[in-house]
Amino acid sequence: MRKPVTLITGASGEIGHGLIERLAAAGEMPIITVDLQPLPRDHRDMVDREYLGSILEIHLLERILSEFEVRTIFHLAALLSTRAEFTPLAGHQVNVEGTLKLLDFAQSQGESHGRPVVFLYPSSIAAYGLPDLETKRAAGRLREHEWNQPTTMYGCNKLYCEHLGRYYDAHYKQLAAETLSGKVDFRSIRFPGLISADTVPSGGTSDYAPEMIHAAAQGRPYACFVRPDTRIPFMAMPDAVDALLGLAAADRTALTKPVYNIAAFNPSAGEIADLVRHGFPTAEISFAPDLKRQAIVDSWPEDVDDSTARADWGLAPRYDLARAFSDYLIPRIRQRY
Ligand code: SER
Repeated sequence: MRKPVTLITGASGEIGHGLIERLAAAGEMPIITVDLQPLPRDHRDMVDREYLGSILEIHLLERILSEFEVRTIFHLAALLSTRAEFTPLAGHQVNVEGTLKLLDFAQSQGESHGRPVVFLYPSSIAAYGLPDLETKRAAGRLREHEWNQPTTMYGCNKLYCEHLGRYYDAHYKQLAAETLSGKVDFRSIRFPGLISADTVPSGGTSDYAPEMIHAAAQGRPYACFVRPDTRIPFMAMPDAVDALLGLAAADRTALTKPVYNIAAFNPSAGEIADLVRHGFPTAEISFAPDLKRQAIVDSWPEDVDDSTARADWGLAPRYDLARAFSDYLIPRIRQRY
């Protein structure tokens, strides 16, 4: 018999970091991971099996299929928006072809053990694309179906994979004699920018917020690559992990859509700088906008409407902006450096 497990791809990344700790502490199901980068030592001890490799290696997924009964997948592996803009084909390969392989793997798993595989997919506010600042300000809080015209490769990849997930879940091989859909239980969250006290992101375009905080804590000057008035939604990492776990645990019959906005706070870059200076009075923060990265952030919404996530599966972030800084980021980052 194959052992029932939870699979995390991209487990060495920022979300994986917090997720492994929470899943291991809950202890409900053994964890297996896939990543190109090795897990930190303390996380390695929390997982049953660590596969070092790419999600694009079909043999790796076949090996997992033969050894484990995967019940839940957290598919976190991705190339973020800034990085994918330099290498769009690599972005497409990892973000789209990788996700397609994982969805197909989930379908095979579901067919082999007969239960739907719960597939958690982190999408992003990058799936939105507003044409200019005036429209962004007038649009305010976006609902999931609004302004789905991303300007980045990463955003296009995320939006398309939301559709692929919905396809596998509800319409897979719809012309076959027998019904094959329903083996993948696809659930997706459009994450805002995430800020962790434990890790720093790499290759994203919302990175200015975490970079500013971590630089200040290390006594390094920081030149922010967007204007002070730049505004997008953000969330503290523990709330992001809570949201993933909350959606994973939700009763499927309560879910009215495959993809959910989630929100916590949406400060301007200038407001973030003020909070950082408050926490680290010697912080040296300046603003030196990179017009091209600025344009990407300007195409993302200034806020999102997450009322459906709150109603369907009880999204309830613990940290508003003030508490994120006073109770989580500042004390924990200070301890870290
Ligand atoms: N935080 C991501 C990025 O900046 C967006 O999901 O690319």
